[in-house]
Amino acid sequence: MKVIERPSLAALNTFGISASAGLLMEIETEEDVLSLPSFRPDRDFILGGGSNILFLSDVPGVVYLNRIGGMEILDETPEYVLAEAGAGENWHRLVRWTLKRGLSGLENLSLIPGLTGAAPIQNIGAYGVELSSVLQSVTAWDWEQAAWITFSEKECHFAYRDSRFKSAEPDRYLITSIRLRLARIFSPKLAYQGLIEELSNHNITEPTATDVSEAVIRLRRRKLPDTAKIGNAGSFFKNPVIDRDEADPLLLSHPDLPAWPDQGDRIKLSAAWMIEHCGLKGMRDGDAGVSDKHALVLVNHGSARGSDIAALAHKVHTTVFEEFGIELEPEPRLVDYR
Ligand code: FAD
Ligand code: EPU
Repeated sequence: MKVIERPSLAALNTFGISASAGLLMEIETEEDVLSLPSFRPDRDFILGGGSNILFLSDVPGVVYLNRIGGMEILDETPEYVLAEAGAGENWHRLVRWTLKRGLSGLENLSLIPGLTGAAPIQNIGAYGVELSSVLQSVTAWDWEQAAWITFSEKECHFAYRDSRFKSAEPDRYLITSIRLRLARIFSPKLAYQGLIEELSNHNITEPTATDVSEAVIRLRRRKLPDTAKIGNAGSFFKNPVIDRDEADPLLLSHPDLPAWPDQGDRIKLSAAWMIEHCGLKGMRDGDAGVSDKHALVLVNHGSARGSDIAALAHKVHTTVFEEFGIELEPEPRLVDYR
């Protein structure tokens, strides 16, 4: 296990925020986990690819970097394959590994940044598919009980951008591997309107899983700012989900506001549209900005601090609330030990 004292965390978060930690421990195997000191939530932090966090302070204790690798097929039937991946594998590398083997289920989730172990934390989702639709189980180290535990898909309590690991019991578990149930027979998931358009622009009417993956990659490259060029953590806010009774008057006064039916009688609204409608797309306060490419993405133009991004997020939140009466909730984890 690699251990570094007083590491800089600037290159380890896609916002590119300067922060440091007391110690960094790189976990490479499940045996490493057994020799770790006990986790102190008031001082320590688990880090994956750093693509869904905002550092508001330094981490006074240990940053645990999960680098446990491995991708393998455990079981197969003529229709399905059970595959396992280590938490430290790059997510998109795993997607490509499955597609190469003729396995489908992850194609709509292509090119999401970060590591496999973080995918269940917020039940990653994109282009009409969520991880929960293919996830079989999650294996984790329970810091509280000092024991291994395996959660079935149901036990993960997945919801839109949420799971038990994110909201109910943050920091209790170190995820070490996940199991996925992938299909040998491809059935395309094309509910996201722009995806069908993207395929038909390439004259594809009967797509393969690889066609869908490539279409998603093109859409993502076109729509989202590139973290290699400008610091960001993807969508900074979740799309608000509200009761139909509350949505009806809002949609009457704003008929162009994109809205989708959600579970029960609930409606999901486009936060990006509301932010753009408030005139905030592309605005900048010092080095903290709202992306001019996508209004839901906050960006670091250079040397913004975490508090600069948080102040801008507060401004966006307040402006949208004043205009629409809707409270936007942040999607990334705000890391703050002050
Ligand atoms: P990190 O940011 O390192 O960590 C996120 C959280 O998970 C933290 O609370 C951390 O403590 C915890 N964590 C990480 N690893 C573990 C582990 N092994 N065990 C326990 N806890 C852990 N997300 C989507 O859902 N859909 C998208 O389409 C999408 N697009 C994005 C586009 C861009 C350009 C960017 C920058 C981000 C995007 N995201 C998207 C957000 C992000 O990529 C995902 O949430 C991703 O799963 C985060 O992975 P990570 O390894 O970077 O996690
Ligand atoms: N829109 C605007 N202005 C913009 C961008 C978008 O008005 O600058 C409107 C458009 O009308 C568009 C609608 O918003 O039709 C939806 O936009 P988009 O399809 O880009 O999706 P999103 O709702 O903004 C969500 C996820 C993304 C995911 C995409 C694709 C959340 C919070 N975000 O974004 O996830 O990749 O759908 O499925 O649910 C992330 O979580 O970090 C993330 C990038």
